[in-house]
Parts: sequence; C-alpha cells; structure tokens
Amino acid sequence: MLIRRPKSWELKENQTTPEKLYMNRRQIIAGLGLASGAVTSCAQATTKPDIPGRKLDFSSSKYKIDEPSTPYDLVTSYNNFYEFGTDKSDPAKYAHTLITDPWSIEVEGHAAKTGTFALEDIIRPEEQEERIYRLRCVEAWSMVIPWVGVPLHKVLARFEPTSKAKYVQFVTKFEPKQMRGTRWPALDWPYLEGLRMDEAMNELPLLATGLYGHEIPKQNGAPLRLVVPWKYGFKSIKSIVKIRFVEEEPKTSWKKSAPREYGFYSNVNPLIDHPRWSQASERVLGGAAGFNSVFSRRPTDMFNGYGDAVASLYAGMDLKRDY
Ligand code: MTE
Repeated sequence: MLIRRPKSWELKENQTTPEKLYMNRRQIIAGLGLASGAVTSCAQATTKPDIPGRKLDFSSSKYKIDEPSTPYDLVTSYNNFYEFGTDKSDPAKYAHTLITDPWSIEVEGHAAKTGTFALEDIIRPEEQEERIYRLRCVEAWSMVIPWVGVPLHKVLARFEPTSKAKYVQFVTKFEPKQMRGTRWPALDWPYLEGLRMDEAMNELPLLATGLYGHEIPKQNGAPLRLVVPWKYGFKSIKSIVKIRFVEEEPKTSWKKSAPREYGFYSNVNPLIDHPRWSQASERVLGGAAGFNSVFSRRPTDMFNGYGDAVASLYAGMDLKRDY
C-alpha cells in the first residue's frame, strides 16, 4: 500500500479545551471501566502490565478469541495511518500532533437527524462494550486486540436513517497542520470509507473509543474509529469526523487509489488473492514465535472467522467480482 515517503518536521498542540467538554470527555473515558475485575487470559499478553487504569474482564463477552492478545506496545506502534506518514512507525511518532478534544462529528444525508454533534453526544459511556477482535490487514498480517467501543448500529439508529440510505460513508479528519502526512498525495485526502447499510447495521462493527481498557491512542484512530472485523483492516477508518447516509455506493480511498487491487467490499477471503500477493495465510504479529518469525503464520479464515454473523449478507453475490 506504500506510495510515497514524506520528509519530516514537527508540530505543536496549541489548543485548550473548555472545562465542560473536558469533564464530558472524562466521563466517556471513565465509562471504559465497565467491568473491573481480574485480567483474563485473553488480555494477559500485554507487555505493559503497568498501564494505569482498570483491568478488563472479557469473560462474559460474546466476542472473544482464546488466543493471546497482541502486546499493547505492538498494537500501538505498528500502524497504518497514512495521514501521519506511510511508514508503520510514523503514526506512533507523529500522531501526537492531532488535536482530539474537543471533537465533533457531522452527520449528513438521508436521515431524520442530521447536523453537527459533539463526540460526547454521540457516544454514551453506558453503551460501551468490550470485545476482542482479530483485525486482518490486507498486507497479510493480523493482530488480536481487546477493543472498547459502542456497536455502530446503535449509534447509526439514533440518527434515524430513511429508506433512501442504502450505504453509509465515513470521513477522516483532514487537517494538514496537525497531520503531516496529508501534505503529500499518498492518498486523495480526506480518507474515505463506506459500508452497505445492512453491513453497518450488523451486530459486529464497533465505533471504538478504547483498547486494552484505555482511551484509544491517537495513532490507533482517536477519538473514534471504526472496527469491522470481517473486512480487511483498511475498512476500519480512523479519527472519524463525518458520517453520510447515501443512496449510491460511496467513494472509498483505496478503491479510488487502486481499483484493481482494492474493492468496495474488501471482505477477508483466503480464496481470492491480492493481485500482488496471496491472502491464503497471515503473519500473526506478536504471536508465539515473535514479531517477524515465519513460524507465526496461520491460515486466513473466510470472513476472518466471523462468517456465522456475516456470510448471509453476501448470499447470492459473486465475491470474486464484488471483492
Ligand atoms: N484510517 C485512516 N484515516 N488512514 C489510514 O491510513 N489505514 C487503515 C486503517 N484505517 C488508515 C485508516 C489500515 S490499512 C489499517 S491495516 C488499519 O487502519 C490499521 O489500524 P490499527 O491501528 O488498528 O493497526
């Protein structure tokens, strides 16, 4: 997915937050500690046991994977977030320049309730859930991550989309002063993603606000990013500022950039290779045999293992054509 490498310089965060918003934000973050208790085997793999805050208990969660989670340090230092550079280490180095508080989200299109909403009005702390999802990157690596977030369908329903809303498009913040990578056309900014409405209303997608029980770091898409576990990682758009309910299939960044390589659906599918590499297996980052070992490979699962919940969405479709 690499296109161009920018030069380096730094920016400073210079905005203060009104006290009311600050307090509300603290409530969202406080809401991350839904279930305090013992750390489960799933979450034990963090190499950073001294992270301040609550320990999560995923034992009652329907969404868990009985494998060690990818160490926190790796989850937060090996990322794609091209707005901060195309190197995997760039987001952790440069995303601190992103101002995430206050944050508002514009809602447009075919819905009864549209307008600009403060993040605090969209995310209800009591609706946040803990779910462990495997995220499979199109570049044939995967991570297992304990997320915290609100199910996307709950948030979208609140805007009362009309019957004309066939798709939903998401837009990432575009602010060159805060996002050094956007000063070069690595992609056509802003970053865009989309889902068909029935995909978006499925129970699996999360609007994530946290990971490992803590506020989501900027390099992972603060303050709000999508997680769509049965699709390649690039569908999981970060730092969302706009949600549009639309009638036609919306533009998405990677399809615009290389339509032969990246489709709108982008469902994880081991049977359909990327034109330049196989999708049959994946490298497990931070897996048993270490970061780069060839032994930490696993076969890729159809729909990334979430077929029970999502295969019916594609009944009758030719997944080779609608890739
Ligand atoms: N969102 C934005 N705005 N910009 C990006 O470059 N990269 C995508 C996705 N979301 C990207 C993005 C890709 S390619 C992947 S693999 C995931 O973010 C990586 O997210 P992670 O932080 O969970 O590893």
